[in-house]
Amino acid sequence: MYDCHNRQINYLRVSVTDRCNFRCVYCMPTQGVKMLSHEGILSYEEFLRIIKILSNRGVNKIRLTGGEPLVRKGIIEFIRNITALQTITDLSMTTNGSLLAPMAAQLKAAGLTRVNISLDTINPERFRQITRGGELAQTLEGIEAALAVGLTPVKLNVVLTNQITEQDIAYFLDLVHRTPIAVRFIEYMPIGEVQIGPGPSIDEVKTTINSSGRGVLKPVLDIYGNGPAKYYTLPQAPGSFGFITPLSDHFCGVCNRIRLTADGKFKPCLLSNQEVDVKSALRNGASDDEIAEIFYHVIKSKPQEHSLTNAAEPTQFFRKMSQIGG
Ligand code: GTP
Ligand code: 5AD
Ligand code: SF4
Repeated sequence: MYDCHNRQINYLRVSVTDRCNFRCVYCMPTQGVKMLSHEGILSYEEFLRIIKILSNRGVNKIRLTGGEPLVRKGIIEFIRNITALQTITDLSMTTNGSLLAPMAAQLKAAGLTRVNISLDTINPERFRQITRGGELAQTLEGIEAALAVGLTPVKLNVVLTNQITEQDIAYFLDLVHRTPIAVRFIEYMPIGEVQIGPGPSIDEVKTTINSSGRGVLKPVLDIYGNGPAKYYTLPQAPGSFGFITPLSDHFCGVCNRIRLTADGKFKPCLLSNQEVDVKSALRNGASDDEIAEIFYHVIKSKPQEHSLTNAAEPTQFFRKMSQIGG
């Protein structure tokens, strides 16, 4: 399936819930976010039907997101059912990692391929502040468990805010020398009220790494994953660094994805308010072909690029990041 800008669409990001046990400052405001009701949210059967229809029409990569996907009951069975379709070659999850340790082995056994885990600082107090109450130790245990059971490659998502310090970068440097983890630094996307100041730029982070005395970052040509990160290695390091630059160097030209929200809307672009309802069609008895038609329509309406960097067009976003899944 190709969109109007000749981009092949083969990747669906599925937000299985808008709920989260954290409330990260860059993702969810402290108040004023209305949670979806039980009826408002797609059932696993409904998600599975959409995934099945799309996977017969060219989608072969699925990422489960949230909110926090591990807070929704029944997620393991859902993963098992997606795996049983046998049409999905990469079934991944983006998680805050806090509930991962006790579930990792079951997730792997159910067919989850790999996980991306958010970790913005290695300082327990600042971690608590960023996540508004999260326990760093649990996320670290989640990361260990993901490595141990083979939910690999394990990638970390580090959003660059003013909470990140040189100690954090030193920790990540050490981590990529000790483990095969990919540590990705992400430019903070100002969606919703700005609740935290921006951190160092990607170039500043690269300079810090390059002047650490542990070698110079070298680009890796074969990209693993379906996303926008550009990866680099260091000499003798089993891990790698990745940089995700939605603002300074956006990657819209190679975008391959559509999002499905927990309340049953297709979103052709993360940074656009455009949405197309599929829940009503599902609940009004639409056929598989009719559901597929809705998806084709969404693909055809995919914008060429996002407008976040265009100051002439300031965008008020209807949804918080936690309601989209990043
Ligand atoms: P893989 O490369 O397949 O491992 O996944 P990914 O990096 O695309 O997924 P993940 O959910 O870990 O996202 C990492 C960061 O990239 C998050 O901050 C996302 O919000 C951001 N991101 C992912 N897709 C897009 C996109 O299409 N547009 C923009 N602007 N940001 C995106
Ligand atoms: N800017 C950049 N990345 C964000 N994420 C959440 N909110 C933002 C934001 N405002 C990232 C989280 C998580 C993924 C789903 O998206 O770090 O790993
Ligand atoms: Fe929850 Fe992830 Fe958003 Fe943090 S970034 S509030 S962990 S969904």
